[in-house]
Amino acid sequence: MTTFIIQPGGCLRGSLQVAGDKSISHRAIMLAALAEGCSEIDGFLEGADCLATRHAFAAMGVEIEPTGYGQMRIHGVGLHGLKAPSAPLDMGNAGTAMRLLAGLLAGQRFPSTLIGDASLSRRPMRRVTEPLALMGAQIDTTAAGTAPLHIHGGQALRGIDYILPVASAQIKSCLLLAGLYAQESTCITEPAPTRDHTELMLQAFGYPLEHSGSQVRLSGGGRFTATSMSIPADISSAAFFLVGASIAADSKLVLPAVGINPTRIGVINLLQQMGADIQLDNPRWAGYEPIADIRVRSAPLQGIVIPEDQVPLAIDEFPALFIAAACAEGETRLTGAAELRVKESDRIQVMADGLRRLGIVAEPTADGMVIQGGALQGGDIDSYGDHRIAMAFAMAGLRAARPITIRDCANVATSFPDFAVLAQQAGLFIKVQA
Ligand code: S3P
Repeated sequence: MTTFIIQPGGCLRGSLQVAGDKSISHRAIMLAALAEGCSEIDGFLEGADCLATRHAFAAMGVEIEPTGYGQMRIHGVGLHGLKAPSAPLDMGNAGTAMRLLAGLLAGQRFPSTLIGDASLSRRPMRRVTEPLALMGAQIDTTAAGTAPLHIHGGQALRGIDYILPVASAQIKSCLLLAGLYAQESTCITEPAPTRDHTELMLQAFGYPLEHSGSQVRLSGGGRFTATSMSIPADISSAAFFLVGASIAADSKLVLPAVGINPTRIGVINLLQQMGADIQLDNPRWAGYEPIADIRVRSAPLQGIVIPEDQVPLAIDEFPALFIAAACAEGETRLTGAAELRVKESDRIQVMADGLRRLGIVAEPTADGMVIQGGALQGGDIDSYGDHRIAMAFAMAGLRAARPITIRDCANVATSFPDFAVLAQQAGLFIKVQA
């Protein structure tokens, strides 16, 4: 059991290279594996989630040659070149890996099984297995609609027109990947914009795709051309430092080469609306993804009513944003975020419990939370094995009156293995107890 112990005070200063983008790293492995020829990748997130994807493709016969830290050469096997794995594929804690692979594996000739850890085995999978069944896939789940997923394989898939019942990039991407193997075209309509890394990466690999407004359409049987790519730093990892530097007096941080895809920048929009001093310098491109150096300085924050259209654009950043809200003046109100209840933990309940332990008035609701800004005390927090809960409460130490102990932090390694080292270098008083 890994524990973080945070001594109060400190500030964040300097330049900090945060880890590679998790969403993009998963997709890079998947699409490079399906390409014809060798793809070179750098900036890959060497975190447990993305390593699970990497192991899954190695287990399906894809040669992945490490060429340095976060760097690899992937020998693509083409759309129909994957081989049957000899054992269940273990996705660990990674929802993205399980849901995207469910779509990809539904189109294969061979059967396969996807398993995960205790948290992933509780998360809803019918949101992908039901539309995949409409495409003709056969997938068995538990009676509760959870993993293990037994994917029969060997079915001829049909394209579908599908309106997503929730704004979810994982469902959209799952169905697009299944659509690569379908006879007719597959068209997905989303109720609100969600991260579009799959669409951008399909383009990067030269796969034809039509994107207009809220719809994306592709046809099966196309070809992927191998390519080289640099994966941006993860804005979801940067988010902890954006909040930490905003709330801690005398902070001044630069986070170089962070992804600023418009479908991911809800956290910047919301922090700026709260009064944060955040600037995007040197905007440029990493392939099809926009990046910038993010500059952040401490600033007084005000509570806000979070516009619901920002929720899908900041969906992973609410643990960090709740800490910002706790340090802001006045009330912050979130609605329209019921999805937070089915992430790696129930992030509404777990964050409300933790904030209350630190002396903050936080009222969880069915689809959000109401937080009154106040003075953070110290105390014992349980992260429930959720990486983002652990990192969010670590930042709270910058403004706490007494030490904060955060239990069950090992899963920080799923998305940001060097979080504690970087946070300490920047000025957080953090100790890790194994
Ligand atoms: C992700 C999509 C989001 C996000 C997750 C990564 C992706 O999930 O929370 O961390 O890479 O597609 P949903 O699609 O369930 O909203």
